[in-house]
Amino acid sequence: MDKFVIRGGHPISGVIPISGSKNAALPIMAASILAEGVVTLENVPCIADVTDMEFLLSEMGTQVTTLGNGKYGKTLKLSTCNFKSKVVSYDIVSRMRASILILGPLLAKYRFAQVSLPGGCSIGARPVGFHLNALSKMGARIKLQKGYITATAPVRGLKGADITFPTTTVTGTENILMAATLAKGETIIRNAACEPEVSDLAEFLVNMGADIEGIGTKTLRIRGVEHLTGTAHYVLPDRIETGTYAIAAALTGGELKLKSTKLILLKSVVEFLNAAGVGVTEEHDGLIIKKLDPIKSVDIITNPYPGFPTDMQAPAMTLMCTASGTSVVTENIFDNRFMHALELNRMGADIYAHGPTAVIKGVEKLSGAPVMASDLRAGAALVLAGLAAEGETVVDRIYHVDRGYEQMEEKLRGCGADIQRES
Ligand code: EPZ
Repeated sequence: MDKFVIRGGHPISGVIPISGSKNAALPIMAASILAEGVVTLENVPCIADVTDMEFLLSEMGTQVTTLGNGKYGKTLKLSTCNFKSKVVSYDIVSRMRASILILGPLLAKYRFAQVSLPGGCSIGARPVGFHLNALSKMGARIKLQKGYITATAPVRGLKGADITFPTTTVTGTENILMAATLAKGETIIRNAACEPEVSDLAEFLVNMGADIEGIGTKTLRIRGVEHLTGTAHYVLPDRIETGTYAIAAALTGGELKLKSTKLILLKSVVEFLNAAGVGVTEEHDGLIIKKLDPIKSVDIITNPYPGFPTDMQAPAMTLMCTASGTSVVTENIFDNRFMHALELNRMGADIYAHGPTAVIKGVEKLSGAPVMASDLRAGAALVLAGLAAEGETVVDRIYHVDRGYEQMEEKLRGCGADIQRES
């Protein structure tokens, strides 16, 4: 298992190109199943989850061609002309929860899908009942047996329905959005997620010929069409990667230019950074991040977009570890997303986590230690801590980080970090 060995204390300064968004690329790749024709995707991040999605789609018969590998990112060409299998196996789902995104497109296009039930993961139970209840309302027959979801649509296909999600669900919204594009009649999705990645998927579907209104709002109205054609799409920048590296600069007192990203994607994170004493300046081709004052403690409350993103909770907690004062973190999205707090405490942080709340008392400095990543964002938070800590930090199980951060060690080393990957 790969690990990162980091020697802290170096300001992270320079230029980091932000990659395409993992959480936009994955649903858009799944949506390619809906197309009659070829889909070309640019600015796709070279990360493990994308590789897994490519594998999953090609196992089912999609022809996946990589057109161009830049230094960062790649262009994919997807063609479902020989699509054959409609079964997504447990081993791939257990590696990548986003496999559940195949369900909606398969049902809409082929009226049948068999997808392994995603297990839980370290940040919580991760149920998918909201997805299944909504698909049932659209006429799908859902059976759960032997750990698999077997879904069958009526011979005439899915039918439009008025769906209200009990709580906002990003992939739930995306699954129903994709299923509704080819359903008979109109579907309304209420309490829909309106994360930028959901909007990017919706724009992609419209470019394929889908009829969608309300993009960017919490109510989506989709009128089913007969078929969707291939198209080309440029995946939007990753707002969580942007926020993660902004914190690297703030934490180490460096000055970073984050290229090919936009402030509008992470306003709530920028507000948090400004309140903590970090300057964020927007230029035509990205953001300039610079610590202006000693870092101050700021409370963090995670909420669905446009609230503070849960995926930024762990990296933001790392910044608060050496802030002046006390900050309170309230995690409203997942029921077990403080695993990184225990590891940060091993580096000298003073965090008391209980239920959905964590109280962080700022300390003078963090000290390097061997720590372990438990999920993608916790791993990123521990790397950030290692950049600022005194001495050496070894972050184990960084396969979690590789799932969602493209060439993290290269990007950081290019800005002064002393970080090595060891197998
Ligand atoms: C998406 O996960 C993201 N993943 C997550 O990013 C992100 O943390 C999450 O949305 C919240 O923003 C992708 O987009 C691939 P949810 P998702 O359904 O869709 C509960 C990362 O680090 N819920 O919005 O799985 C659920 O348990 C990953 O990039 C149900 O109870 O999250 C959670 O408490 C981590 N029943 C809440 O809703 C359901 O049927 C929000 O989950 C569905 C969800």
